[in-house]
Amino acid sequence: MDRKSYEKQLVGERAADYIRDGMIVGLGTGSTIAFTIKKLGERLKRETLNITCVSTSNQTSELAKSLGIPMKELNEVSHIDLTIDGVDEFDPQLNGIKGGGGALLFEKIVAKASKSNIWVADGSKEVDILGAFPLPVEVLPFGSQHTARAIREKGLDPKLRMDGENPYRTDSRNFILDCHIGKITEPERLSQWLNALPGVIENGLFINIVGKVLIPEGDNDVK
Ligand code: 5RP
Repeated sequence: MDRKSYEKQLVGERAADYIRDGMIVGLGTGSTIAFTIKKLGERLKRETLNITCVSTSNQTSELAKSLGIPMKELNEVSHIDLTIDGVDEFDPQLNGIKGGGGALLFEKIVAKASKSNIWVADGSKEVDILGAFPLPVEVLPFGSQHTARAIREKGLDPKLRMDGENPYRTDSRNFILDCHIGKITEPERLSQWLNALPGVIENGLFINIVGKVLIPEGDNDVK
């Protein structure tokens, strides 16, 4: 196993310890949170843990259900106590970019419905200023070339995410424009500008959402 995968497993599994009896838990999407979900599946076999989980993607739903984790739709729960998710990049203020796995829309809805949020990240995700990772922006397929043009004219260099020959489709059947921005000095302003554009469904900037990020410390510890 390479270093990055090792770190993902380390922090991902540790995050499962934050899930307590009685909680309604949001489960994020990606390779790091997959370790949390698998660990949770193991805990459920050993412990009496009365929990309900809400998913952020089809991929996560399938994995969680295959492990016997009790799942509900977001509309079937009144609130979420804790959501654990991965992240593509985060800064010292714990703002981040998400959506590398294409699940940013459901991830943001679930995160906003949560009383608390934790991200799990391998060491490569920590940056001083956001923007080295291309910012995913979910857009409606209708008129997407015009939406992309407006984003391009703002200097944000959008590239339509592809899945082979065809545009990549999110779980909501939308497209994603990966925006190569460089340093994002005013994330809040950028997020507001993007979301005000007709055709934009949501962008991958997560600002003031998480209270804690679990990252590796040394060889086999987590901070
Ligand atoms: C999916 C996401 C993921 O959480 C993010 O891409 C991190 O993924 P990984 O844990 O595989 O590095 O935002 O939309």
